[in-house]
Amino acid sequence: MRPTWAEISLDSFKSNLGEVRKLVGEDVRIMAIVKADAYGHGAVRVSETALGHGADMLGVATVSEAMELRRAGITGEIFLLGSIDPQEAGIVVENALTPACYSLDVLEALSEAAVKRGKTARYHLKVDTGMTRLGVGVGDIESFFASASALPGVILEGVFTHLASSEIPQSDYTDYQLGVFREGLFFLGELGVKCRYAHSANSASIQRFPDSHMDIVRPGIMLYGSGGMGEIGLRPVMKLKTRIVQLREVSPGTPVGYGGSFVTGRETLVATLPIGYADGYPRALSNRAKVSVGGRLAPLIGSVCMDFIMVDVTDVPGVCVGDEVVLFGDDLVSVEDVSSWAETISYEVLSRVSPRVPRRYV
Ligand SMILES: Cc1ncc(COP(=O)(O)O)c(C=O)c1O
Repeated sequence: MRPTWAEISLDSFKSNLGEVRKLVGEDVRIMAIVKADAYGHGAVRVSETALGHGADMLGVATVSEAMELRRAGITGEIFLLGSIDPQEAGIVVENALTPACYSLDVLEALSEAAVKRGKTARYHLKVDTGMTRLGVGVGDIESFFASASALPGVILEGVFTHLASSEIPQSDYTDYQLGVFREGLFFLGELGVKCRYAHSANSASIQRFPDSHMDIVRPGIMLYGSGGMGEIGLRPVMKLKTRIVQLREVSPGTPVGYGGSFVTGRETLVATLPIGYADGYPRALSNRAKVSVGGRLAPLIGSVCMDFIMVDVTDVPGVCVGDEVVLFGDDLVSVEDVSSWAETISYEVLSRVSPRVPRRYV
């Protein structure tokens, strides 16, 4: 087996979920966000762990993500955060999924599918309060319900919004969005529209805006040990690992990798590692990243290839072929380090670890 793998600590995941519970208290429901294969950590194992250790429901982006969980035997509540196609209404009803709705087309299809099957479909109205991505504007709520209220077979269970800037300390945009959302909720009350749940909080707002907690919180990245703010004790869940497959001593002036973008300046011990951009290790890390080997940091030299990278291990005492190397997730290199070197965010680095990399649960 190719010696490259992602080690997933379900204990760390449980501990992070426990941190969310401490922040929100016992009366708020937790929707664990497990879209994008649980941010790269493996949706089925993570979902089972979440539901078994304090999460009340799961959130995914697409119907196919939800179906992977249903096929694996997960019977808990699954919320579809993203957009669904009217053609998916039947499968949504049959599998008791709860979709976000913001368009009458989708709601009509849901109503028709539910009536045809003699069932009732629950949905949450998505209100756009300033993210400008998906949702009904507050000004359009009245006309939405002028039609929606008459549809048979569908029940409004929740109303929610998504916050665009809650992780930015100097921004007051979250207060603005929460204000708009509250106006929308008030307006619904005036129209006589009733529903059980209001929700708005992602990881950053769970930590920074207690006002945003409402009835359900939707933590994603913090469950995976990133995006912690202040004193909170989050633990990284994924360690991306590989083993050295070749070691070679080369002389000064030796070009390394495609295009010779790095040229050795000294006698250099080069270690070749079997991980590349096809595994989700970003090519933008070429000549920029460091890896953890033998308790030291070793610099990546040359370009990231599709299946390999090279690192300078000259200063790592006793290094051998077969030694374990951590790309991120230990005390020396965090996923945040890697994302800042690649000029991206930890969400992208984690969720792009490719299916070619086996997940090992510990
Ligand atoms: C609607 C919605 N809620 C919650 C989340 C979770 O966000 P985070 O990972 O920042 O906690 C996301 C993620 O993008 C989302 O799209």
